[in-house]
Amino acid sequence: MANIVSFIIQKGGCGKTTTTVNSAGYLARQGYKVLAVDMDPQGNMTQHFGYDSDALENSLVHLFLKKKPFDEVLIKREENLHILPNNIEMTTVEYTLYKSMSREYILRDILTPVMNEYDFILIDCPPNLGILSINSLVASTEFMLVVSPEFFPMRAIKPLYETYLMIKSKLNHTLQLKGVVMTMCDFRTRHAQEVRNILQKNFPHKLYQAFIRNNVALKEAASRGQSIFEFDPRSIGAFDYQNFAEEFLREYEPARKKRQYYDNFFSNLANQEQHDILQFAKKNLTAYIQHRLEWHENAPVLREALIIERNKILEKIKPYRNYSIHDE
Ligand SMILES: Nc1ncnc2c1ncn2[C@@H]1O[C@H](COP(=O)(O)OP(=O)(O)OP(=O)(O)O)[C@@H](O)[C@H]1O
Ligand SMILES: [Mg+2]
Repeated sequence: MANIVSFIIQKGGCGKTTTTVNSAGYLARQGYKVLAVDMDPQGNMTQHFGYDSDALENSLVHLFLKKKPFDEVLIKREENLHILPNNIEMTTVEYTLYKSMSREYILRDILTPVMNEYDFILIDCPPNLGILSINSLVASTEFMLVVSPEFFPMRAIKPLYETYLMIKSKLNHTLQLKGVVMTMCDFRTRHAQEVRNILQKNFPHKLYQAFIRNNVALKEAASRGQSIFEFDPRSIGAFDYQNFAEEFLREYEPARKKRQYYDNFFSNLANQEQHDILQFAKKNLTAYIQHRLEWHENAPVLREALIIERNKILEKIKPYRNYSIHDE
């Protein structure tokens, strides 16, 4: 059954869409089956995946109004990456929904029949706490707060948290806060560091160690209609989103098992082999990261990046897929 995760904050321009698209892109590349849902009438996620949202014949609107079947609206962008697109027409639905019964459950009812077909359903929320965001949270198993280090997003957290508690008590008892991720960070500024400290204090177990730095390649990828892994897999943005997605995955049982498998496999290799593999893995990192690794070998984010590259190499030697089929 799919893990359904909403990427949310009701302040605009914090990186929700960028985070949804690149997480979906990364997870799909790792072999997970992913459905990305654009719940924002701005249609930014749809555009970021390369579609002209205004020219869509079918969109989420038609599912909300029960005018088209699911398969007709679904875009199969890649084998592992499916999309429910959206556009401005959705604003009309938003209005009529206020008057209808069970208006909070519409997205949940749309997703329930396909839940078993995906490993992850990622939902890009609009920048408000209106009925579409409520629908997203009601349909979700978890939600991820996406925060840029500014004053206004911080002010948005309290009302959002109250909304979460309301939804949890009345509409979706199993909803969980999955994590808090900081985007568009520049920790050379004192302010960004201060925001991180506040988040750390308020969400000690939920603030992600991975964070997303400012990186123009992320903007360019969006304008080309590609994920960062398609546009420039060696950019800082790709590095940061890879770290984020790996941290995001780590709490799920299958991902934990896979990680454990590679850790065991690696520790049973001869010292020389371990050394060679790590050297090779280092070469696959960007020059920037290689350089930083030399000076900050123990920085968790860098060490993690090296392990991720290492595991990619181990995967080629002894794929986990084969192991899980034959040895378990
Ligand atoms: N880490 C980053 N570095 C540089 N630019 C970024 C980064 N993350 C996002 N952007 C850019 O910032 C803008 C806002 O990002 P995004 O659309 O992801 O935010 P959002 O929270 O979805 O906004 P909205 O609330 O309007 O839906 C976009 O132009 C995006 O390309
Ligand atoms: Mg957006």
